[in-house]
Amino acid sequence: MGEISIETLKGEINRLKKEKNAVILAHYYNRPEIQDICDYLGDSLGLSQEAGRTDAKIILFCGVNFMAETASIISPDKKVIVPDNRAGCSLAESINGDDICKWREQNPEGVVVSYVNTTAETKAFSDICCTSANALKVVESIPEGKKILFVPDKNLGAYIKLKTGRDIDLWEGDCCVHERFDTKTVMEMVKNYPMADILIHPESNCSGDPAIHKLPQAYFYSTSGMLSHVKNSSKNQFVIITEMEIIHQLKKENPNREFIPAGSRALCGQMKKNTLEKVLLALQNEAPEIRVPDELRERAWLPIKRMLEVK
Ligand code: 13P
Ligand code: SF4
Repeated sequence: MGEISIETLKGEINRLKKEKNAVILAHYYNRPEIQDICDYLGDSLGLSQEAGRTDAKIILFCGVNFMAETASIISPDKKVIVPDNRAGCSLAESINGDDICKWREQNPEGVVVSYVNTTAETKAFSDICCTSANALKVVESIPEGKKILFVPDKNLGAYIKLKTGRDIDLWEGDCCVHERFDTKTVMEMVKNYPMADILIHPESNCSGDPAIHKLPQAYFYSTSGMLSHVKNSSKNQFVIITEMEIIHQLKKENPNREFIPAGSRALCGQMKKNTLEKVLLALQNEAPEIRVPDELRERAWLPIKRMLEVK
């Protein structure tokens, strides 16, 4: 594709979207220009719910592959396409179905809770899924006394273990972006910005540290939770401990407030594979398509359905 202006790209994307009855769903870690053009911007839970709600024929999912797979599992009658089908995720790649089977053999009574950042195959071997927005509720929905095998994010798992006091074994996976947010990084931000609220994604390395939970200005949220916190807060300054592209949306909604990213350039390279040019190409070609084979879909749907039913 030759040099096309952003405005021409946007115009063509909007035209094709209408012509093909397509909807664009995007995660907050996308480039700003994708956040601005999408029909629905959300966290993993919101995006899954929207994939189930939409009556569009085509879902163009701007996220990473596990998100598009989840949309295809939830809405098998829709065509799910992505800008770049090489957009992976370090968490999703840290575990597979075989790993779960082996872990279950050692813990036959264990309930496998899998973070939604997993492949369809991993989901198919799990009992229930969760996202960062509903992880506490999902774990609390499991009968007391049951052992929980939490996969794949050790940091989110440590956070839930600390908050619920439940018997939870953790898989050793992590997100390469959030792993850098350790206790030292957070403490430095607290020292440098004493008036700010510190908003932390539970995938962060510090999430299981009781010292961080004792800080009165520290709050743990999914990406959407961070936006709601700022909306309802009277503070003017916020330290953002997650992938920093979310600051585009935070600033858009709160132009007079200050948002300070933690670390230097905390960006998810996988999400950045999505570009406006690829969004247009995907709409033109109705490809690349992400489709979960029927048999796998039926098995992977169950733990997602159980998650969506948790109130
Ligand atoms: P949420 O947007 O659900 O908080 O998830 C963050 C994330 O890392 C998605 O990959
Ligand atoms: Fe995966 Fe981390 Fe990127 Fe989220 S930020 S998609 S968990 S690699």
